[in-house]
Amino acid sequence: MKKLNHISDTNLLSSFENNEDAATYRLSNDMAVVFTTDFITPIVDDPFTFGQIAAANALSDIFAMGGKPLLALNIVCFPADRLDELEEIIRGGWEKVKEAGAIVAGGHSVKDNEPKYGLAVLGLVHPDKIIRNNKCQEGDSLILTKPLGTGIISTALKAGEITVSDTQEAISWMTKLNNISDAILKLPVNSMTDITGFGFLGHLSEMLKDSEFGADIVIDKVPILKGAIDLSARDIIPGGSLSNLKYFSCEVEKRIELDFAREILFYDAQTSGGLLISIEEKDAGQLLKLLKEEGFSESRMVGNIRKSGASDKKIRLI
Ligand code: CO
Ligand code: CO
Repeated sequence: MKKLNHISDTNLLSSFENNEDAATYRLSNDMAVVFTTDFITPIVDDPFTFGQIAAANALSDIFAMGGKPLLALNIVCFPADRLDELEEIIRGGWEKVKEAGAIVAGGHSVKDNEPKYGLAVLGLVHPDKIIRNNKCQEGDSLILTKPLGTGIISTALKAGEITVSDTQEAISWMTKLNNISDAILKLPVNSMTDITGFGFLGHLSEMLKDSEFGADIVIDKVPILKGAIDLSARDIIPGGSLSNLKYFSCEVEKRIELDFAREILFYDAQTSGGLLISIEEKDAGQLLKLLKEEGFSESRMVGNIRKSGASDKKIRLI
């Protein structure tokens, strides 16, 4: 057993300060820990399903860095009179952690009127194989692994505008782990992030920020959940998605006609959304093939990375 290096900032390989998905810290030449936390308020009524979604969502940042989860701790805020529901939530979360190959090793709870659940997760990654969210290269293909629209669909469910059965597709994506295989991680992936609260264009902006690159997105290629555009056309849009539009649209140039009902989907705040992967064009076909074999049936190549001039908008919708 090698002695752990003296704790030092130079071993901190990434942190939330540079908008990375998780913090990573080098333990030795061939091992780093990757560390993240996330907890959310219920987005579906069924407690077991909520537990699954919240856990998949919290584990996602480990996968987005190219890491493997090792240990998880439950984070719980819950009303004292609804403890049987809480048991189901924790069971749902436990199942997902187990599926991810990790262990629930404890946790902490506090009484709270509004339930919240999530995880702190510790994972492992090789220090040279950390996949950062801001290393896109010119000519890369961009691949998105899950359809957009979970924010709009869950808002509609809360408002009673759709039935639980209308949300099955969205739920099956939100409960699906982003645990891509080693075969995928061996491909020359240049950059990767997971799509969560900032929406597709928000997270893409983060990938391009402070770089000399921009992206062209072919909007017809971007996978969108069935029914989501009809709902946004009826103005069923979460506040977070509207804030994303306000905040990130200054970096986006629309080169095609785009209805607002459709445009807002690209900014929709996602829970447990897919991965956005920037990979050399020659390997994009192989990546898509592997993703489909791993159940990411809606994976699509949605655009590519180009050089961008100082006066260009970072993202062009074409
Ligand atoms: Co993330
Ligand atoms: Co996160």
